[in-house]
Amino acid sequence: MKERKGIAVLASGRGSNFESLARACLDEDYPAAVRVLIVDSVEAGAISVADSFGIEYAVVDCGPKKGSMTPESSERMAKLCADRGVALVCLAGFMRIVKGAIMDEYRGRILNIHPALLPGFKGLHAQEQALAYGVRYSGCTVHFVDEGVDTGPIVIQRVVPVLDEDTVESLSDRILHEEHRAYPEAVKLWAEGRLRIDGRRVHIREGA
Ligand code: GRF
Repeated sequence: MKERKGIAVLASGRGSNFESLARACLDEDYPAAVRVLIVDSVEAGAISVADSFGIEYAVVDCGPKKGSMTPESSERMAKLCADRGVALVCLAGFMRIVKGAIMDEYRGRILNIHPALLPGFKGLHAQEQALAYGVRYSGCTVHFVDEGVDTGPIVIQRVVPVLDEDTVESLSDRILHEEHRAYPEAVKLWAEGRLRIDGRRVHIREGA
């Protein structure tokens, strides 16, 4: 069997995308394995997901500034990842801008999932933004992380309709369902070496 690529998942919240990745990794033919979950709060629901899958987790205090991380916390994360042979970092509802040592170490090897069709509705409350704007379709985007907020090259997008009767909750649920399919798919493509970043574009090589 081929060696599986180690991934780290960074999360701040309930961890349903982390769970979708952990579940995909249960398949022994899946080309990646979660080595560690890193959360920025002991309150993160993702911790109990890690426990239920028997995945190691670490709580890293990223400092008091919302949306940001201290240089020390970034160094700690980079070391946690390096020590566990992590090849790819997956942000899954991680509510801080990634910068510092972990960015330097993993540049071009960090993915994020966003609950809208980028470049529309970046940042917080994307589903609410989409609903308020009146778009007929929304969805989710898996993209590489660069220095900006939700601006890196796009790997996969999945589209869902916005219905007249939608609330933020119903639209979010429909999008989340697609997120749980898109993220494991994107990680698989990366782990199989099938993604090539070419400026803003990501080329996907055909599978064998
Ligand atoms: C997801 O909607 C994800 O797209 C966004 O934050 C949410 C995290 O949800 N970045 P969960 O913690 O993975 O359930």
